[in-house]
Amino acid sequence: MNLVFLGPPGAGKGTQAARLSQKAGIPHVSTGDLFRNHIKNQTELGKKIKAVLDAGDLVPDEVTTELVRQRIKERDAAKGFILDGFPRTIPQAEALESIAAVRHVLLFDLTEDEIVIRLSGRRVALASGRVYHIVFNPPKKEGVCDVSGEKLVIRPDDDPSAIRNRLKVYRNLTEPLVDFYKHRGLLNVINAAQSGDEVFLSVCSVLGLG
Ligand code: AP5
Repeated sequence: MNLVFLGPPGAGKGTQAARLSQKAGIPHVSTGDLFRNHIKNQTELGKKIKAVLDAGDLVPDEVTTELVRQRIKERDAAKGFILDGFPRTIPQAEALESIAAVRHVLLFDLTEDEIVIRLSGRRVALASGRVYHIVFNPPKKEGVCDVSGEKLVIRPDDDPSAIRNRLKVYRNLTEPLVDFYKHRGLLNVINAAQSGDEVFLSVCSVLGLG
């Protein structure tokens, strides 16, 4: 089952993909996480793209597509994968068509006001990859990851000017994918303004998972 999670920054794609990955037994492939790992490990790629991510711009299509091509060739993705944050441009979507057949595209739909509330309250654990929200999904102990015990941080691209830029980039470059996938009969719209549990029920219902 090859899935694409599409939607604006902060719509809950990563939160839902992590949950679905557990339930469906297929890997959660987040291009944002792949890039942040390169930055954390100070690889050559990481050094080149740090400023791009911090500003909320997009990494070039060829670099991103190659990373995804390699990742979904790995053995754990043989039965399927959840792509979170890829494709993000029409050229990426066209490249994906030549790499793998996508079964469903889920569009997480949320207003810009809600997005700003979610991103400004997000806190992340860099090592464990866990995502929290200070109001909607707080850790048991303030500022500390429940799983790894590490200190929670604010993502550099969650500052107000980067959020504004990410929304602009989404509208200009990623939103055209809605029509791209609608024309192919693959698009399913999920109301991402519901609670996390309700969103997950909607996701499972679209995918026919009980
Ligand atoms: P990426 O990491 O993909 O960022 P994004 O798409 O902006 O998505 P986010 O991670 O911000 O949000 P999300 O939808 O996963 O929401 P989350 O679950 O965290 O990409 C980062 C950067 O990498 C890009 O800007 C770009 O530079 C680069 N990049 C990545 N992919 C690329 C590509 N294909 N091409 C080129 N460059 C690329 O939830 C957000 C918050 O809301 C959390 O605090 C969460 O706890 C809370 N929350 C979640 N669900 C709910 C709910 N139902 N109710 C209340 N709160 C909720």
